[in-house]
Amino acid sequence: MNLKGRSFLTLLDYSKEEILSLINLSEKFKKLKKDGVVHKYLEGKNIVLLFEKTSTRTRCSFEVAGNDLGMGVTFLDFASSQMGKKESIEDTAEVLGRLYDGIEYRGFDQDLVKKIAEYAKVPVWNGLTDDFHPTQMIGDLLTIKEHFGYLENLNFVYIGDGRNNVANSLMIACSKVGLNYTCIAPESLFPDSKLVENCKNIASGKSTIKITNNPNKVSGANIIYTDVWVSMGEPEEVWEKRIKLLKPYQVNINLLNKADSNCIFMHCLPSFHDTNTIIGQEIYNKYGLSAMEVTDEVFRSEKSLVFTEAENRMHTIKAIMYSGLSDENIDEK
Ligand code: CP
Ligand code: NVA
Repeated sequence: MNLKGRSFLTLLDYSKEEILSLINLSEKFKKLKKDGVVHKYLEGKNIVLLFEKTSTRTRCSFEVAGNDLGMGVTFLDFASSQMGKKESIEDTAEVLGRLYDGIEYRGFDQDLVKKIAEYAKVPVWNGLTDDFHPTQMIGDLLTIKEHFGYLENLNFVYIGDGRNNVANSLMIACSKVGLNYTCIAPESLFPDSKLVENCKNIASGKSTIKITNNPNKVSGANIIYTDVWVSMGEPEEVWEKRIKLLKPYQVNINLLNKADSNCIFMHCLPSFHDTNTIIGQEIYNKYGLSAMEVTDEVFRSEKSLVFTEAENRMHTIKAIMYSGLSDENIDEK
């Protein structure tokens, strides 16, 4: 599978075989890391990480993965660069494409990341936009595969804000790879109907895509996944409405008990599962909720794979970058 020169903007651009090959390569990189084998296979290359929104996992995964591969890594945020204020994204992308071998971008607009790829002419990796979070997906699929040993026909249930970047990408990932995807959300937070149709067509004959507002529809679920109720970039004012709307969709032990007895819990993180954050404390003071999308009990339970999932971001981002920048088979190194 040769992905050299390809950008990674949305999983819609990738075939099932290409996605599986990225998971396969991630497994190899994870083993090299665990075995302590140095793998500076991209020495001499340089990448730049552009962050218009905040990040812990994605930024650190790109930095560690880049360093492990022997690359030079530059971090640039919008506050400390000319981007957007004094220089257009087109000009910035053109300049960065001449200096760097690859570019990561996290921000708001999916069209912008597309534009960067167009002007930079080097591989661009989408580190999250309002619409999609594709690098998260390879980490999530690796985590599921490691746990169950396979991916196809597992029953995947996403519950919460059904139309955010993570939910959109999960629906695409499941449809491509062949997991049965159920999105449980209040109707006003259902995914875009065109994207649902598109995913149904992709999944057709292999797996199912279902959308429901009934929070009890989790029987047979092998994976229950949730995400924050308000995403980065959404206005403060939506909190109150969102809390009212999504309270019945919280992942708690009662909900988990209705799923398959081997069901696991996943979350891209960061998560509001206690009051140990500034926002978590504010929400508790204002609304009396000590957890939002998932209770602390579920988050800390043995069914929860959230920290392995977070670690897998790094191994999978390494595979995504390596594939975009080299066509050499790492088994021959
Ligand atoms: N899951 C994820 O993307 O985390 P960060 O926002 O910390 O990068
Ligand atoms: N939906 C979340 C994902 C964070 C990784 C957000 O966009 O804030």
